[in-house]
Amino acid sequence: MLGPVLLAAARSDTVRRIVSAAPVTRPVVDRFIPGERRDEALVAASELLAEGLDVTFDHLGEDVTDTASALRSRDAYLRLAEALADEGLGARAEMSVKLSAFGQALPGGDDLALRHVLPVVEAAAAASTTVTLDMEDHTTTDSTLAILARLRERFPETGAVVQSYLFRTEKDCQTLAAAGARVRLVKGAYREPVSVAHQRRSEVDRAYVRCLRILLAGDGYPMVATHDPRLIAVTQSLAARLGRRPGSYEFQMLYGIRPVEQRRLAAEGHRMRVYLPYGTDWYGYFMRRLAERPANLAFFARSLAGR
Ligand code: FDA
Repeated sequence: MLGPVLLAAARSDTVRRIVSAAPVTRPVVDRFIPGERRDEALVAASELLAEGLDVTFDHLGEDVTDTASALRSRDAYLRLAEALADEGLGARAEMSVKLSAFGQALPGGDDLALRHVLPVVEAAAAASTTVTLDMEDHTTTDSTLAILARLRERFPETGAVVQSYLFRTEKDCQTLAAAGARVRLVKGAYREPVSVAHQRRSEVDRAYVRCLRILLAGDGYPMVATHDPRLIAVTQSLAARLGRRPGSYEFQMLYGIRPVEQRRLAAEGHRMRVYLPYGTDWYGYFMRRLAERPANLAFFARSLAGR
């Protein structure tokens, strides 16, 4: 029951101010976000890379309400792409972007977001790596997939994200599972109405397996983003049955969540990519992590009470 409350709070400016200012928040945030600065994220990434894990960087930010903020997001990613080019890590270090940080919600948002994100995709290609477009709430799905299609005309390696909780997603998987297409499958992290999304965990999980089957049977490159042990086991057995070798798909998990499992899968020979967020605008991301797991909230509440 707490999940929806936390997801509503994730979009409240008042709660944002209170949570961000509380001194006890920081140590809890640190578990999920290795730092606010790019150099801190690069240090965290080099540690993961040294252990055989790959990464996708996320410069935190979403729901910008003016063009200047959208340009700041673009510039942050351009500087990141430069750093990745210097490091020469290629596809082992890619970038994930939220189009709402690039102006998607502003008037003329589709064109604006495309204009702002295109130089980032170009810079990624110049650094021999890729960009994946994160998926936000369902009101943005059509726009994000339309921008993806435009980007893929020149950069077919641009990654998509699909959320199994949305009723529409099996169909989207069928469309997206084309040759070479990189598609990340997640359960979905936003509060969605009953008219568009499964509400029960069991239904979301069953839909995840159906989507998984479509993606693994297709010609694309599935990116299986989940911490759920049952879904990881299902992926491995489906992949074996469909003749997919490790390396023709990958696992992805979030920084700080199930790190032992991340290393176990990498040691088994799987490509395991860690989603690595950094930046000052961590509030929305952090609240979604609390909403996913009540135990995180209990830990946070104990920290607050202990002061
Ligand atoms: P589930 O929530 O059932 O968790 C399974 C187990 O994992 C839990 O029992 C627990 O052990 C552990 N776990 C999960 N979340 C935890 C947490 N916050 N803290 C501690 N332990 C936790 N969503 C979206 O809508 N758009 C997107 O673009 C993305 N992008 C994305 C990228 C990557 C790489 C990942 C891994 C996830 C996303 N997500 C996302 C988030 C996704 O939709 C989903 O909310 C989370 O992955 C949690 O769902 P699980 O599949 O892990 O299952």
